[in-house]
Amino acid sequence: MPKTIIEPFRIKTVEAIPQTTLKKRKEYLAAAKFNPFKLRSEQITIDLLTDSGTGAMSANQWAAVMQGDETYAGSRSFFQLEEVVTKLTGLKHVLPTHQGRSSEHILLAVMGTAGKVVLANNHFDTTKANVEYLKGTPVDLVIKEAHEPETKHPFKGNIDLEKLEQHLQELGDQVAMVLMTITNNTVGGQPVSLANLKAAAALAKRFNKPFILDAARFAENAWFIKQREEGQQSRSVREIVRETFDLCDGFTMSCKKDGLVNIGGLLCVNDDTLAEQARSLLILTEGFPTYGGLAGRDLAALAVGLEEVLEEDYLQYRIASVAYLHKALDKLGIPLMHPAGGHAVYIDATAFYPHIPAHQYPGLALTNALYVAGGIRAVEIGTLMFGTPNEAGGPDNTAPMELVRMTIPRRTYTQSHMDYIAEVLGDVYQQRDMTTGYAITKQTSILRAFTAELQPVTGATENLAGSVV
Ligand code: F0G
Repeated sequence: MPKTIIEPFRIKTVEAIPQTTLKKRKEYLAAAKFNPFKLRSEQITIDLLTDSGTGAMSANQWAAVMQGDETYAGSRSFFQLEEVVTKLTGLKHVLPTHQGRSSEHILLAVMGTAGKVVLANNHFDTTKANVEYLKGTPVDLVIKEAHEPETKHPFKGNIDLEKLEQHLQELGDQVAMVLMTITNNTVGGQPVSLANLKAAAALAKRFNKPFILDAARFAENAWFIKQREEGQQSRSVREIVRETFDLCDGFTMSCKKDGLVNIGGLLCVNDDTLAEQARSLLILTEGFPTYGGLAGRDLAALAVGLEEVLEEDYLQYRIASVAYLHKALDKLGIPLMHPAGGHAVYIDATAFYPHIPAHQYPGLALTNALYVAGGIRAVEIGTLMFGTPNEAGGPDNTAPMELVRMTIPRRTYTQSHMDYIAEVLGDVYQQRDMTTGYAITKQTSILRAFTAELQPVTGATENLAGSVV
């Protein structure tokens, strides 16, 4: 048997990627005020900002697009999707939405989050923001190994069951639900084991709380379970997926990940009353329940994507391509989060640039160096994203970790693209001593990472907190 894991597809349609010069990239970055979120796609050679809605659809999905039924109420495409989702997950009520965060908002609103606590392994950013917006309190209870970059635990996305039980006992009626994010994006796309999911679901049941899944990367999670969990090797991914969904009372899903589509979301529940309430809110905010903020053609493409994502050749290639990049960077001595996650490789920017303090954004220094060296766009997940400005005008309140996420879109880049990324990063690592940090010159009070303007710091001890507008 050949050992090489190949891309399990051949390419029928190609999209040219921009190739730029070093001089141009320096100009583009300066014009973007040193914030890669402000770059335009034609300035980027390889875009690793996110795996959300950035993947390639298959010939079968494009064929389904042409068959999409644009009927306002009662679209055939909806019923096709409903059948696929019911077979996949077993949940009774299927509501389409335009993307994950809208499913989250509707579910959290109808479940009565106000004044209550949501207990999770980790809330994704939009889930956390929605809980807070609805006047609830998000609490993250991931296992401690998740915060140790070097520790090679097979299921670093797991919830700490002891802490979960303790919180359920102490908080009693204040708890709205138990929520599990699979895979756990916040800690690096790390999987959650079936045993952990079962134990968390049993605890939720014992305390009479709904057990909810954020299932954005449910197929990648199931693949890790099949690979790593004792006794799961001989099962099909579909069986593992079904067992996972059988544990829950409801789930939200951003279909822009494992739905293999560019736009779409799902909200599914078993409870009839809750479903009725959710449908009413869906009509108010998204659209009629048989299209929910999507076109009929989007529903049709999603119905095909949710089948394709279970193909084991695909999942093997998908996880192997992320692990391939991780291994190549590890060989170069680049400090990484271990083990490789499902959808991204995370670099530890504090260890990469020990001379750049957190309040001068070492993660951003790395994303910008990567862009200049090779036209690659990654994303800072550190103090620029999660830190807060210091009210007194001193250095920022910093984030717990300074990371850079290199997120791999699905079925989009090939092995030579991965080799190129590793080569560029190797060069950036060689020149790490020469790289300086950044200072903010302009920022907004919320979600500043998306819009902030910055400049390179020349004097190492300088502190330019920037004006808050
Ligand atoms: N839940 C998880 C675990 C996610 O990763 C995301 C999105 C969402 C919910 C929200 O879904 O974007 O469709 O509204 N994650 C993207 C990312 C944005 O880059 O990781 P959405």
